[in-house]
Amino acid sequence: MSVKYFEENRIFKLDSKNTSYVIKIFGEGYPLHLYFGAYIPDVNLTDFEKRNVYASFSAWPEGYEPYTFTPDTYPMEIGCNGGADMRIASVQIRNSDGNAVTDMRYVSHKIYKGKPALKGLPALYANTPDECETLELTLRDSVTGAECILLYTVFEKHSAITRSMIIKNTSEKSFVIERAMSFCLDMNSKDYDLITLYGRHYQERDFERRPLAHGTQGIGSRRGSSSAAQNPFMALISKNGNEDFGEAYGFNLVYSANFKGEIEVDYNNSSRVIMGINYDDFGWTLEPGDSFYTPEAALVYSNEGLGGMSRTFHRLYNNNLIRGEWKNKKRPLLVNNWEGTGMDFDDEKLLNIAKWAKETGIEMFVMDDGWFGKRNDDTSSLGDWTVNEEKLGGGIGSLVSRVKALGLKFGIWYEPEMISPNSDLYREHPDWCIHVPGRKGSIGRHQLVIDMSRKDVRDYLFNIMSEVLEANDIDYLKWDFNRNITEAGSALLPKERQKEFYHRFILGTYELMDRITSAYPHILMENCSGGGGRYDPGMMYYSPQIWCSDNTDALSRVDIQFGSSLCYPASVQGAHVSASSRSSYETKRNVAMWGSFGYELDPEKISEEARNEIKTQISDYHRHYDLIHSGDLYRIISPWDDPYRCAWEFVCEDKSKVLLTVLIKFQKEPQNFFIRLKGLSPDKYYRLEETGEVYSGALLMNAGISLFNMKRSDGYSKTFYFEEV
Ligand code: GLA
Repeated sequence: MSVKYFEENRIFKLDSKNTSYVIKIFGEGYPLHLYFGAYIPDVNLTDFEKRNVYASFSAWPEGYEPYTFTPDTYPMEIGCNGGADMRIASVQIRNSDGNAVTDMRYVSHKIYKGKPALKGLPALYANTPDECETLELTLRDSVTGAECILLYTVFEKHSAITRSMIIKNTSEKSFVIERAMSFCLDMNSKDYDLITLYGRHYQERDFERRPLAHGTQGIGSRRGSSSAAQNPFMALISKNGNEDFGEAYGFNLVYSANFKGEIEVDYNNSSRVIMGINYDDFGWTLEPGDSFYTPEAALVYSNEGLGGMSRTFHRLYNNNLIRGEWKNKKRPLLVNNWEGTGMDFDDEKLLNIAKWAKETGIEMFVMDDGWFGKRNDDTSSLGDWTVNEEKLGGGIGSLVSRVKALGLKFGIWYEPEMISPNSDLYREHPDWCIHVPGRKGSIGRHQLVIDMSRKDVRDYLFNIMSEVLEANDIDYLKWDFNRNITEAGSALLPKERQKEFYHRFILGTYELMDRITSAYPHILMENCSGGGGRYDPGMMYYSPQIWCSDNTDALSRVDIQFGSSLCYPASVQGAHVSASSRSSYETKRNVAMWGSFGYELDPEKISEEARNEIKTQISDYHRHYDLIHSGDLYRIISPWDDPYRCAWEFVCEDKSKVLLTVLIKFQKEPQNFFIRLKGLSPDKYYRLEETGEVYSGALLMNAGISLFNMKRSDGYSKTFYFEEV
């Protein structure tokens, strides 16, 4: 049983294989947070509740003995706005009297097997009801009738907890939710470093580590998408912690739009972590009887450093987030024409690529941007999702059947959430784009964003996409999103609900994705947003793979892949070899093999030598597919620790197969160079395929292998494959 309730002292204990999380209902219903960390037995749990109550004018609730309790210094499961808790709030509700004082107290709880779905939102799921257990804590503000239901699901096997909140209006009057963070976690210390993943187009998910300081610090997005600027992920790691040692807490929001993650360190040296929908420019009017669901967050704890945290996220997401037919099915090795041809193509050119792909052993051809409307460059046609007959004379049907006749699968590109001002759709429905009345809008990549909060717009998109998906045997869909949202407003929402827009937009996108993936479950969806601008668990719920970055240069791509691996598994990582990037085809392949692999080039524009080399590369991808997609990742040398070289390793579950990749980014003067492998069984013996030499697991992990003789030119890489003997 992973959720226990001890009635005598009103304590809830949520245990997974390696972690415990303890909550106490204190006094008149205050939900206190007592502990989250490594597993502890069920003994004397109340000791944690002793706190400093004298600090900085901290106020106590009326009716309490002075200086015995204050919500200001006690760790809380929810941070209520406007009362004695002066720290950053996780919930703020403006009631019909106009004030935003919010005071949530325990009313009841439920404990049950399994995990509920979150209405309209992506969320982790249980494969069988026994896989996890859920605690619902119902809290109520007795003055306003607002209820907060805190949801906790424990994934026992994975040492992970998901948290979210439902707000209900049980009163007779409407109120406005001004802040509804998915979780609030009060930690007893400030002795952590904060790790976040910042970036931009071409440089997504770069690793950044900084010490926590007093005051508020954090990350967020106001771009309408989770964005490349900050990923909705934060980790706290103990000060001396690193890849293999120390405590690491990971927080990842399952959401693809404006978010915020904040940590406030107070004068007691406690750290409050909150994460959820960005409360800037957010408000949601809740009518009597209605409920509001927040997105959920996944919380992972590891006392094996960042590596342990990452591997927990990977297993959790592979098992309980990625869905559908493609969850465990081998993803086709693809070639995409974007980098090779841009929008300058016709069916013959595409067929040439497809023919080469077939001869080379590639399994799927993907037609990228430029096949519809009058789209010859990025200034027109988004929204006009009918085929451009000048490029594809016989229509999509003819191209699909010719590609299929070669024995390849077929994929297609869409950017459904966008509309070009120069499109028939815009001329017909100018009010379908996001805009605010009387104000000129901003243009990004020559395009506007279509109003996904509108059902008529979503129906149009579903129908026009279905015409293509119904009529043709399409195996794959690349769903792109290539600008930020500005001048956010919907023509259909009343003025008092305009602050709901950003959230309604993403709910609309999720709904359309759900309709498409439910109607065409065999289609593999790959998400994309100017590369990896929506590389988040919300999107992973609909698309089992996401294009990691438009940057396909192996030497900088590797940094992006290391950053992404902090919480996202290799299986979701779309990674391609392109012609444009520096470095050898071998290195490009070695880097791209860490993910869902493919090529992105026009074979006519590369040398015969390169074409021949590509032919020889593919077998390794097939051979190591299972190991990479479902094995455990160990970061051996990370780019954030060493600017010159990096190394990573996959180990299969029973520890019988190991694939190590070493990349020399920039050559240094010869030095001793030992690689100590990780995650092997010390008692097993492993044969290195290339040389036939046998090593003990203990030797490989403790002494390591010497790579002094390995070639060391800039951009050189090599894989080492070991198998148990
Ligand atoms: C984005 C994607 C690219 C490509 C182009 C097409 O930038 O990241 O892979 O699909 O759009 O316009």
